[in-house]
Amino acid sequence: MANEVLTRSPVVVLLGPPGAGKGTQARMLEEAFGLVQLSTGDLLRAAVAAGTPAGLAAKAVMEAGGLVSDEIVLDILADRMAAPDTGAGVILDGFPRTTAQAEALDRMLSARGQKVDTAISLEVEDEAMIDRIAGRFTCSDCGEGYHDTHKQPARAGTCDRCGGTAFKRRADDKAETVRERLKAYHAQTAPLIAYYEGKGVQDRVDAMASIAEVRRALQAVVGRVSA
Ligand code: AP5
Repeated sequence: MANEVLTRSPVVVLLGPPGAGKGTQARMLEEAFGLVQLSTGDLLRAAVAAGTPAGLAAKAVMEAGGLVSDEIVLDILADRMAAPDTGAGVILDGFPRTTAQAEALDRMLSARGQKVDTAISLEVEDEAMIDRIAGRFTCSDCGEGYHDTHKQPARAGTCDRCGGTAFKRRADDKAETVRERLKAYHAQTAPLIAYYEGKGVQDRVDAMASIAEVRRALQAVVGRVSA
């Protein structure tokens, strides 16, 4: 149940390198504003687990820390965007990641009479991201994210959100793969900050702050663009 009442359905893009907190914060924004989180990483991992042709093509690229082809990602995202729940407003987590994806998103939204309302860059230091990712684990049942030191479940071994007791770690969370993912971010995704600055919708949040402080800063931005 959302805590905040929105007068319009915003499209929010979360930009940031691996470990910046996109997934953690997207889930909190989803709860606070009743928006729908669309994570291309989650959609791709589901395709890999289901063994679909897209999943089979994406698996090796993801394990190496590279970016999956625009064609595959755009197909998966367009399918998800077609679902009626996205009409409530969306938080795009990990998409777009290339200029071609950003342009395709603009076209997709324009056909629905929408546009990106804010692209929020989560600003972090690369070295700290290795620690954040190495300590990350998630609930196997509901996907809630945790960290060995920064965000532990209130009761050890039990998920705060769903009460599940099984947890898992991601195959691409090894330090050497994270370095490749950071390189891909700086080469292919960071240029999107200038792309969205050019459109007058770029916001920045200091994501080296605590999870609660980052949450407050993001809620202020999303509240502003939803008013
Ligand atoms: P994806 O799943 O999107 O991964 P990512 O972008 O690398 O981001 P992460 O999920 O690792 O980090 P996050 O920013 O969500 O951080 P989190 O909140 O978990 O993509 C995976 C792969 O899929 C890509 O490498 C690529 O191959 C492919 N892919 C996906 N989308 C694609 C696209 N559009 N195009 C092409 N390929 C695509 O936080 C991390 C940890 O830190 C957690 O444990 C959390 O508790 C902790 N934490 C969070 N915030 C804080 C804080 N403020 N202080 C302390 N700890 C914190």
